[in-house]
Amino acid sequence: MCGIVAYLGKKEAYPILIKGLRRLEYRGYDSAGVCLLNHGLKVYKCKGKVDDLEHFAASMDKSGSVGIGHTRWATHGEPNDANAHPHYSGNEELAIIHNGIIENYDTLREELRMRGHVFKSDTDTEVLIHLIEDVKKNEDLTLVDAVRVALTQVVGAYAIVIIAKDHPDLLIGAKKGSPMVVGIGDGEFFLASDATPIVEHTKNVVYLEDEEIVELRLGEKVRIRNIKNEYKTPYIQELEMHLEELEKGGFPHFMLKEIFEQPRSIADSMRGRIHLESGKVTLGGIIDYEQKMANAKRIIIVACGTSWHAGLVGEYLIEDLARIPVEVEYASEFRYRNPIITEEDVVIAISQSGETADTLAALELAKSKGATIIGVCNVVGSSISRITDAGSYTHAGPEIGVASTKAFTAQVTVLTLMALHLAQKRGTIAHSRLQRLLTSLQQIPELVEETLKTDALVQHIAEQYKDARNFLYLGRGYNFPVALEGALKLKEISYIHAEGYPAAEMKHGPIALIDAEMPVVVVATKKGNYEKVVSNIQEVKARKGKIIVVVTKGDTVASGLADHVIEVPNTEEELMPLLASIPLQLLSYHIAVMRGCNVDQPRNLAKSVTVE
Ligand code: G6P
Repeated sequence: MCGIVAYLGKKEAYPILIKGLRRLEYRGYDSAGVCLLNHGLKVYKCKGKVDDLEHFAASMDKSGSVGIGHTRWATHGEPNDANAHPHYSGNEELAIIHNGIIENYDTLREELRMRGHVFKSDTDTEVLIHLIEDVKKNEDLTLVDAVRVALTQVVGAYAIVIIAKDHPDLLIGAKKGSPMVVGIGDGEFFLASDATPIVEHTKNVVYLEDEEIVELRLGEKVRIRNIKNEYKTPYIQELEMHLEELEKGGFPHFMLKEIFEQPRSIADSMRGRIHLESGKVTLGGIIDYEQKMANAKRIIIVACGTSWHAGLVGEYLIEDLARIPVEVEYASEFRYRNPIITEEDVVIAISQSGETADTLAALELAKSKGATIIGVCNVVGSSISRITDAGSYTHAGPEIGVASTKAFTAQVTVLTLMALHLAQKRGTIAHSRLQRLLTSLQQIPELVEETLKTDALVQHIAEQYKDARNFLYLGRGYNFPVALEGALKLKEISYIHAEGYPAAEMKHGPIALIDAEMPVVVVATKKGNYEKVVSNIQEVKARKGKIIVVVTKGDTVASGLADHVIEVPNTEEELMPLLASIPLQLLSYHIAVMRGCNVDQPRNLAKSVTVE
């Protein structure tokens, strides 16, 4: 994980780096640091967040128009001041920031120690900058060549930026497995983990490919070569991101803003893709592969976290509508369990960031076995979107809150469109059902708007359960993944233990936990085995559990049994996850706020998990 940002130009670097780091804090916030170049290198770094760094550096000299900045999610070495980035080389003439993991750092460190290197931190990153220093000195190379040669000795993932005391007009970046974007401004350059720190300065960017090294010199063109020393022509793209999307816009937290953005983000993920008159769906990004998808013997969905929950909804949709067998796999398990993959399989990766290391590796494995690989990503230009054969972007806009909300509903929307499209191609759906679902799908943004009106009621419920120690979430059918996602949201941001379960499975274990202290959230919307879910509610009630139900407007039976009732508008059963998940997002949000938790940056988590 970790976020990196660098600046080379004529302006003061420090404010640009700090602002950039704030945008990247979603990637980790165990420590933060900067290095500024101004008659020598000055590193300021400390444990904690960017605010702590600002406080720490308040009275220091922060002048300089070249600099690098880092916000860390600790992997090697505990989160403390010494392990914070940037790290110096032994002679303090070079400094580095790094996102990724150098897997052979231990061996490299021992070799370097034998050659007299002394390390001040426990990090793999410090080993890398010492290695570069060592290679440069011993092989008498230019700095860029030393970086290149050193990287040939490295096993693992990296996005690095290096600055040098003796080269005040130079930034060197390189990447493999971790993302890096180059921003090309007017007489200035930027390097960052994603485009969010760059967008307000320039819209012209280059996404580096794996094993590429970029050399940025003031007044010169961007120079890219790979570690085999072959020069590459930079492919300059224009960013589509807007600055307003990166700000809280009057909301106290990004998470709440993103929950309330869902009418728009869901509409954006459908925009231009539904043609009601002809009853057709167009997903431009997969056109060349849609026949292959429609002919697939099997679809495997790989994902992690919330995206995995969206994948489960996708499984229900694709099997139900398009009648293609689907398996949903945790990417981290799939990649290591020697799965059977054939050329006839289609593997769909779902990922908000498009950078999750396990999902990326699962895709690479599937690709190596000849499967067709498809992406459902939110971040345009991300690693997953670039290695896949084809894909559909979710167009939810940047999601900053670590707990995913609008990205989830956008993923479910795109998977619904994919399922309908495949169903139509395969002739497994009646035209009337297709029309009905497409019409209802188009109404979802409006219905989400209405669902968001439950906010005050949900806040009131949150007040009563904010001190609970456990929560159980139940649902069946399409509402089962909703229950899983509701539970995940609560534990991520409020640190209350929560479990999601298929309602009928409760009797095989979790029922033993139920007593008068246990809040049980049941998603009991109409259809979806409603009567059976009502029986499960009875079972909870008989054991004095506190029942919070999410029901369809006008419901009486489940509502009559519950302690708290949250009504959502009626829609097709297949689309209910798009509505039912909203009050559960709000419930976790309000409970976390009431418990004084840092909603946007929950402890130990990071938004983009670029390490195993
Ligand atoms: C992290 C985030 C989750 C996210 C998961 C998968 O754990 O905190 O919110 O669901 O990674 O991320 P992806 O970007 O692949 O969807």
